[in-house]
Amino acid sequence: GKGNHRHYMEKEIHEQPAVIGDTLRSFTDPSSHRLALPDLPFDFAHPETRLQLVACGTAAYACMTARYWFEQLAGIPTSTDIASEYRYRDTPMTSRELGIFVSQSGETADTLAALRHVKAQGRPTLAIVNVAESTAAREADGMLRTLAGPEIGVASTKAFTTQLSTLACLAIGAARERGCLAASREAQLMQAMDEIPARLLQVLDQDQVFRDIASMLAGAGYVLYLGRGAMYPIALEGALKLKEVSYIKAEGYAAGELKHGPIALVDEEVPVIAVAPSDHLFEKTASNLQEVAARGGKVILFSDAAGIAAMGDLPVASVTLPAVDPFVAPILMSLPVQLLAYHTAVAKGTDVDQPRNLAKSVTVE
Ligand code: M6R
Repeated sequence: GKGNHRHYMEKEIHEQPAVIGDTLRSFTDPSSHRLALPDLPFDFAHPETRLQLVACGTAAYACMTARYWFEQLAGIPTSTDIASEYRYRDTPMTSRELGIFVSQSGETADTLAALRHVKAQGRPTLAIVNVAESTAAREADGMLRTLAGPEIGVASTKAFTTQLSTLACLAIGAARERGCLAASREAQLMQAMDEIPARLLQVLDQDQVFRDIASMLAGAGYVLYLGRGAMYPIALEGALKLKEVSYIKAEGYAAGELKHGPIALVDEEVPVIAVAPSDHLFEKTASNLQEVAARGGKVILFSDAAGIAAMGDLPVASVTLPAVDPFVAPILMSLPVQLLAYHTAVAKGTDVDQPRNLAKSVTVE
């Protein structure tokens, strides 16, 4: 049941500290606190290793986020694609390329077709799934399981953040195998991962702030989400979540693309959600937000205390999130975009758990 929550989506958002903790513990040695992934049937250490990550919807945004981790931490050239495109594109694969398929259900038709396409080329496959008995888990050469537990809400929440947590562990493991991760940095990263559940609880404690911003969004006709680096896929996920459950037209953009089109839509009516922790890209995003504000756009800033202080009174609203290691920031930043979508849908009175036209699992093409 939903316990004391109004909707499954709300319950599942609140379960995230626990299920992320479970997922991380399943990949950690309890005595040493070091990462301990199961044996996987491929070699990350080879200098020619490449990764192709494939999924649909929210799972595809988890893949896009992981690309930053695999490239920046492990130095592995990585491509991501949505399964419906990948399966028909006949992309040539290199001899050291590994296919990674991310799916909550493990039954998404396009993702399975993409997996079979990679297998047919004789390349190894890894499935990251929430349902251990699923087709993807059965057919792939290797499997990592997210421990989100059953997800009932059609809009993915805890499945997404446990996928991110699993992919982050895999990137740390790959970086270690490749010898490009100092033991001290690895310990730091594991510490930052360990602290995620506690940091997420701090975000959940701010529920009222999201309700207030949601009452502002409920009347909007269009909402723009901006993010840079690993926050770009989180902006995409924020927009997807909002459109799925509140039916408000929303788009996510890389902040650097603002000038190349979407700024034409910005006026006094348009809320612009900036997902922007105070990392090495913050200043770039800050200048994009100045451009938004100059056109009357209503900037709503999700950042940490330093980022919010730096923006002064430019935002019409802001949410102060805990400052965390930039590596884990995408996992933390997923929560505010979910809470905002949820409370906006509640304010509009839509069917949060069963949005119109959507199915939980898309098993036909
Ligand atoms: O079961 P899967 O993870 O393969 O499903 C993929 C997408 O259908 C799914 O993430 C969809 O985009 C959700 N409705 C997102 O909230």
